[in-house]
Amino acid sequence: MNNRTFYLTTPIYYVNDVPHIGHSYTTIAADVLARYKRAKGFDVFFLTGTDEHGQKIQKAALACNKTPVEFTDSVVDKFKTLWNDLNISNDYFIRTTDELHCRRVKKVFQQIFEKGDIYLGDYEGWYCIPCESFWIESQLEEKKCPECKRAVEKVKEKNYFFRLSKYQERLLEYYDKHPHFIQPESRRNELLHRLKSHVEDISVSRSAVEWGIQVPMDATHTIYVWIDALLNYITALGYDDDLQKFKKYWPASVHIIGKEILWFHGVIWPAILMSLKIDLPVKIFAHGWWTIEGQKISKSLGNAIDPRSIIQSYGIDAYRYFLLREVPFGLDGDFSYSALIQRINFDLGNDLGNLLYRTLTMIEKYFNGVIPEMSDGANDELRKSSQDTHDKMVHEMDELQFSKALEIIWEFINHANKFIEDKKPWSLAKTSASKPQLAAIMGSLAVAIKDISVFIYPFMPKTADEIQRQLGIIENDQQLLLEFHQGFKQGTAVRKGKPLFPRIEHTESFSKETVS
Ligand code: MSP
Repeated sequence: MNNRTFYLTTPIYYVNDVPHIGHSYTTIAADVLARYKRAKGFDVFFLTGTDEHGQKIQKAALACNKTPVEFTDSVVDKFKTLWNDLNISNDYFIRTTDELHCRRVKKVFQQIFEKGDIYLGDYEGWYCIPCESFWIESQLEEKKCPECKRAVEKVKEKNYFFRLSKYQERLLEYYDKHPHFIQPESRRNELLHRLKSHVEDISVSRSAVEWGIQVPMDATHTIYVWIDALLNYITALGYDDDLQKFKKYWPASVHIIGKEILWFHGVIWPAILMSLKIDLPVKIFAHGWWTIEGQKISKSLGNAIDPRSIIQSYGIDAYRYFLLREVPFGLDGDFSYSALIQRINFDLGNDLGNLLYRTLTMIEKYFNGVIPEMSDGANDELRKSSQDTHDKMVHEMDELQFSKALEIIWEFINHANKFIEDKKPWSLAKTSASKPQLAAIMGSLAVAIKDISVFIYPFMPKTADEIQRQLGIIENDQQLLLEFHQGFKQGTAVRKGKPLFPRIEHTESFSKETVS
């Protein structure tokens, strides 16, 4: 990897069910980071995809009277359509049923076997189908899966095992030398605690599950779905038969995941990479979970809101903004329509939308719609504040602290609003003697708003585009201008449009469509 490449991934999602708000959260966060890094000049490879093998999918297909292939094809389409609707800019979409992935997984499995890290043994214990996880008796909580609290089933079968225990010490050493490997720190500490306490070898095949990739040296077994899935991060780059992309992008800059799958990513995955003698990813970031109006998202509760219904009612960018602004990345959060509407009305409508609208109205009124030129050094106040915003935002984005980055941007938006109140352009407009002063104020406001469009672009690409269109910078098919602090071409005429985020009345009956 050279330091101008940036490889980021989401988990690959199970296709037993259609996507909900939780899946969209991880993917949107990854998209924001990908867009931000691209805008900063990085050569980005952004990967997402679907995890399609295993008992859970096999069972879901059977319940619909479909073959696993028919079933997965139909659900995968729903994921792809949603990512398209949400403006997700992934560079590749991997399916674990892709022929290339299957071939590469087999090859890697064989390599680990030949190194002596996979051996045949007997497994007796418990299995959670929804989590696709093996558990030993002492890990169960009230005879239920400790992760999802659902029923587990007893499993007794011949399995291939991976020598995870052999890597315990090396993993601990690695954690020690790389304190920022797992983030946030609180989750790193939890994981470290578990890693220190006890590590057993893990099953990496199933003899009772047909829907999976065959174990290369034993046709009576399929590869455990988590091994198949984790390997997607390198098979998508061509490992191990077409290494061009792999050499360019590996190691991953960050795997973004939800907190519940940190053991797989923070312990099992690094151990597999160590066995293969491949560098470890730079960072694994485990974010928190969303509940819906205080309740866990669950199919049985029927509360898994379809993101499409939210974006139809409230817009894509409002949804993207809300998810990343409402909760610090890493913590749990609660989705409610009232909180979403508050954010739209206040942050997006009052603060951002009004700033643009009132500024353009004044430019129309006082300068016939042409952005006035200002002399150098006139009104440095906003220019300095913009530079400051940029520097602080960069710091937070590099730490994946999206909500803090947005807070910083909003401080700047509010500064610009206050600037209008303080300078009172309407008073200056009364006398022609103060015209140069008025020009400096309106000109610097226009530059500030253009800078704001650059700052919000990773979060709200369509809104950034619309702001630049209204500022007269871009025509429909032009690229966004992503350099900040750049002035306007002489004679740029604004094109004021409708207010960006019209007010939504709280009395409106919310469409609460759930996923079906
Ligand atoms: N297939 C595995 C991942 C394999 S990665 C090599 C899997 N899939 S999943 O469909 O269950 O998706 C899990 C991911 O979806 C979580 O890690 C998280 O990114 C996202 N979310 C699912 N529900 C969520 C919430 N309620 N809240 C936030 N994100 C959650 O696990």
